[in-house]
Amino acid sequence: MRKSGNSHLLCFILFLFFLQIQTTLLGQGRRPVRVKNGMVVSTSRYASEIGKQVLTDGGNAIDAAVATAFALAVTWPSAGNLGGGGFLVYHRSDGDVTTFDFREKAPLVATERMFLSEDGKIRNASNHEGILAVGVPGTVAGLYAAHKKYGNTNWKKLVEPAYKLAKKGFPLTWGLHDGFKYHKDDWLQYPSSTKIFLKPDSSLYQPGERWVQRDHAATLKRIMKKGRDGFYKGKTADLIMDYMQKHNGLITHEDLEKYQPVEREPVHGTYRDFDIYAMGPPSSGGVVLAEMLNILEGYDLAAMGHNSAKYLHFITEAMRRAYADRARYLGDPDFSTDMPLAKLLSKEYAAYLRTTISETEASISDSITFNDVYESPETTHFSVIDASGNMVSLTYTLEYPYGSRMIVEGAGFLLNNEMGDFNPMPGTTDSRGYIGTEPNLIEPEKRMLSSMTPTIVAKNGIPIMAVGSPGGRTIINTVLQVVLNVLEFDMNIAKAVEAPRIHHQWLPDVTRMEDWGFSPDTQRLYKDYGHNLKIRWRQGAVMGIYKNTEEDIIYGASDSRSSDGAAVGY
Ligand code: DON
Repeated sequence: MRKSGNSHLLCFILFLFFLQIQTTLLGQGRRPVRVKNGMVVSTSRYASEIGKQVLTDGGNAIDAAVATAFALAVTWPSAGNLGGGGFLVYHRSDGDVTTFDFREKAPLVATERMFLSEDGKIRNASNHEGILAVGVPGTVAGLYAAHKKYGNTNWKKLVEPAYKLAKKGFPLTWGLHDGFKYHKDDWLQYPSSTKIFLKPDSSLYQPGERWVQRDHAATLKRIMKKGRDGFYKGKTADLIMDYMQKHNGLITHEDLEKYQPVEREPVHGTYRDFDIYAMGPPSSGGVVLAEMLNILEGYDLAAMGHNSAKYLHFITEAMRRAYADRARYLGDPDFSTDMPLAKLLSKEYAAYLRTTISETEASISDSITFNDVYESPETTHFSVIDASGNMVSLTYTLEYPYGSRMIVEGAGFLLNNEMGDFNPMPGTTDSRGYIGTEPNLIEPEKRMLSSMTPTIVAKNGIPIMAVGSPGGRTIINTVLQVVLNVLEFDMNIAKAVEAPRIHHQWLPDVTRMEDWGFSPDTQRLYKDYGHNLKIRWRQGAVMGIYKNTEEDIIYGASDSRSSDGAAVGY
């Protein structure tokens, strides 16, 4: 017995060593990784390897996505998750496209004004901090539903690699070490989290040290054996309930049992000869992306030059308009039935919006201004292509990095703080930074509006590109610029992912520009249009795949803004 245990451990260590070598060779930068058959690009090399293994074993893109998502919950816990939610876009090589919405929901007892104190102000940031910020998780149900309908590998085989990684541990990366260190005070606030992220003497795990997650492994084992019920019923559900009761949380067994993901039609837009498929409400991503592309299609962007001041002016004006529509109209479609999606997605509306854009001067967003809203750099996106050419684009999140920072005692996974994505103060849209518009107010079982934008581009019915990013509201603009970099400026996927980018979200009326790659001349000329400029360190972390169907070669790139990412294929 003992001997076989040791030899398993040896094999596992060799496997991890192999991962290190292989992924180091793959590298990052402006040169994409090239393969012939299939690929996974994610923000964790461990997870990408696990997904790729599923592909080489004959699994399809959905199978690999499920395995990658479970692995990310273990290896990238700031955003990979069991206790959060997200969206999956699936474009089959036969032309069919669908999406899965597994966004979190408000608990049954949630109310419109649940975060407000008597004076109408938000109580102690409670919409983002503490137990009330936790939405009913959707990830496990979403992955299970997508697999049930489209997967072809045994469920157990897809959860098992994550289970093993949690149980046996893996060498901590520098990226994880940095995150654990940055959040040390958060861990110390919650005893259940202290135990997971710090050593017994409260010191930090160091890069290269083995990090084991036993409770997480036990939860994954229940999911492995029982599928969705391993999370929403039985011991895992009981542990969530115990945690909720101990901390005066709102989520009940009924919330968990009632949670259902939804398979929805994708949002469909076009840009020149290309089809764009992305996530519809309750994500704003697809609608805002398609609206911006429709506006921009009317200009000769290539002639302006990539990231020239003129180009930046026009994309800013498209962003300003589409983000204003986001705030006005978008919310959970199961509650807001009168969203004017057809109008927002139409070429005619885009043509009208172009008439409101000056060639020489920035517009003014509105007389109402907002303060900057915090957008954390977490959430995670990954892209998959299998040997048949099926593509998956999946973004999921806990909202803030490590979500609520609360580990469910005994279950080893983090809870989200996604309730913060609702508009917390009904009717209050003002200069303090709040949007109180109606479609995204809190209601029981409603999904909070998201900006996640998992996207697939197709040509002649064949999927050719999968991209997405973290970054809160910046996500949609990040995806826009990467899509334009490829479709309009002919960049390879690695260059497209790396290129510096900007963000404008209507209000506040400020453009955020990354602090590299834009010359002082460009900045000056851009400001001459009348745009307000602020510099930021980085925007998003794109994980992209591009398939050149003529060469029959798959290209992939993980954004170097992500510390641990890797494109891994075969
Ligand atoms: O759903 C959303 O749009 C946000 N909760 C995503 C959060 C996110 O991307 C955080 N960090 N970037």
